[in-house]
Amino acid sequence: MTDAPLRLLFVAPELVPLIKTGGLGDVCGALPPTLQQLGADVRVVLPAYRPVLAALSGASRVVPNLRLPGFPACALLESKLANGIDVLAIDCPELYNRDGGPYQDAGGNDWPDNPQRFGLLARVAALLGGAQSPLDWRPDVIHCNDWQSALAPLYLRFAEGARAASVLTVHNLAFQGVFPLATAARLGLPPQSLGVDGVEYHGQMSFLKAGLVYADRITTVSPTYAAEIQHERLGFGMQGLLVARSSVLTGILNGIDAGEWDPAHDPALAARYGAAELERKADNKLALQRSLGLAPEPRIPLLGLVSRFTHQKGIDLLLAIADELIGAPAQLALLGRGDPALEQGVAALAVRHPRRVGFGRRVDEALAHLIEAGADMFLMPSRFEPCGLNQMYSQRYGTPPVVHATGGLADTVVDCSAATLAAGAATGFTFTEESAGALLQAVRRAIAAYHDPPTWRALQKNGMAKDFSWARSAGEYLAVYREAVNGKS
Ligand code: ADP
Ligand code: GLC
Repeated sequence: MTDAPLRLLFVAPELVPLIKTGGLGDVCGALPPTLQQLGADVRVVLPAYRPVLAALSGASRVVPNLRLPGFPACALLESKLANGIDVLAIDCPELYNRDGGPYQDAGGNDWPDNPQRFGLLARVAALLGGAQSPLDWRPDVIHCNDWQSALAPLYLRFAEGARAASVLTVHNLAFQGVFPLATAARLGLPPQSLGVDGVEYHGQMSFLKAGLVYADRITTVSPTYAAEIQHERLGFGMQGLLVARSSVLTGILNGIDAGEWDPAHDPALAARYGAAELERKADNKLALQRSLGLAPEPRIPLLGLVSRFTHQKGIDLLLAIADELIGAPAQLALLGRGDPALEQGVAALAVRHPRRVGFGRRVDEALAHLIEAGADMFLMPSRFEPCGLNQMYSQRYGTPPVVHATGGLADTVVDCSAATLAAGAATGFTFTEESAGALLQAVRRAIAAYHDPPTWRALQKNGMAKDFSWARSAGEYLAVYREAVNGKS
């Protein structure tokens, strides 16, 4: 390759600030601009969901009529985001212009036409990466994210003529895009790709498997998760394939958007602060207690959590020990939506202890920021966590996290011990056994440290001094892109 800037097409199932369901949206929003700052020439392609259409109302229709076999006609809209990133939105009203979320309707049911919706995303991405692209701009690499875009490496591999290299990032192996095998023919997949060494997965087809088989390089979002998914416990059936492809698999830790998540400049806080003004966290604690109706106790530790409510996140483990925690004493500030049984469990807890437990049963960006700043410590009892962003936010906000040592949580939180404190490395509390008892023990250790101000200050300051910015990780992605271009098969 010459020194010409690397041209990258980034395929985004969701994208902050336009649409987000979780950390994937944060990553797709923050990584491309960082890559651009490092000299890459980046465009992002995504479906023109209804909120995306509304946000890009001034976009130009650069490809007015695109007809791909097996899919409804669509168009490509081009627009520049405020951060300078060029966005290509696939305008296909029949598939994307509707109320509800990107993957599910308002009632939480998966859209039945998801294979077409995300088949089209991948098909368009592959078109733009191949010789038949309707655009003059040709990428060197297409970077796909999760199952929603994972068919693109397959389409590209079987396309005629010169093609871009492909990279697939796995943000969460638990989501695999599995559909009846008959779907494959409707998506125009070539017959040679339908066998067990292609998309076939236990008599069905898997979008994610297509990417794992055909991508030139695979990454996942932390080094520990890259190792964990090669074993049965967290391999979700793909461990054999991942072991077979381990020579092209890399774990690259996510970064955080250090502008968006900065306690010194965060407009959602009652008081802004840096590491030298940690006493101002007290104002945020009071504001958080007020906003959730908690008793305005300055000295009882306040434990925060912001999460999708799913089995993955271990909310049930927290529920199992909540009464004991409250008696410790402690207060809880919880924000999240998801599994109705978990929502009901937390809601009932808040009804039983209205002055000790506050529950925001909603998606609320501002409250998420206030919890990071106003809580004394932050809980992430996830059963597995490919990377996790909140534990990095909380360290930046001087709010030590208590986490299960798995995936990115193990890679980003240093457990508090005499040795790690002496080394200036301790930033939080970790537990290794996946159980409510182990969580309780870790929180008890955290509460004991909270009542020892010098230790607590050290933990807060160590966490705030850590560099979780995207620049480091983006450099690692550039290296993977170069390998993908050079090692294209
Ligand atoms: P995941 O992607 O598995 O949900 P991450 O930790 O990577 O986990 O990212 C979750 C992101 O979603 C974080 O930015 C977090 O603050 C945000 N989030 C989750 N639930 C809510 C909510 N109810 N309100 C606001 N933000 C939320
Ligand atoms: C997934 C994972 C989460 C990760 C995020 C962004 O949603 O569950 O751990 O931080 O993707 O990569």
